[in-house]
Amino acid sequence: MASTVDWTALRAAAVRAAALAYCPYSNLRVGAAALCDDGRTVVGCNVENGSFGLTLCAECTMAGQLRLTGGGRFVAVACRSAAGELLMPCGRCRQLLQELGGPDCLVDTPRGVLPMREVLPDAFEF
Ligand code: THU
Repeated sequence: MASTVDWTALRAAAVRAAALAYCPYSNLRVGAAALCDDGRTVVGCNVENGSFGLTLCAECTMAGQLRLTGGGRFVAVACRSAAGELLMPCGRCRQLLQELGGPDCLVDTPRGVLPMREVLPDAFEF
């Protein structure tokens, strides 16, 4: 599955999702897109609110999409701004990707495509 990831399409899906963000406080539109283990793609965008700390990252709404559209696992993830810049998942979201994708889940990073085991070493496990 890893070798069949269409990263160009995944990155473009993340950019399209970023355009749908609700981010009146930061004005940073973030989109996330993931290829799932059944071949479908799920996306998310950040949804902010006035209690800044309660803002939902793009990866959070994407995790909701994963569950709401059939479950499964993340296989490959790309996060982008609406302008197309590569963005890395924050610490909280790395934990989310780790749990829903596992250590082999691939992530688009500034250092190239890397597995979650390198993006979040020594991850917390419950
Ligand atoms: N944000 C994400 O959507 N994903 C991350 O992994 C980090 C940050 C959002 C939250 C907030 O709406 C904006 O980026 C600025 O922090």
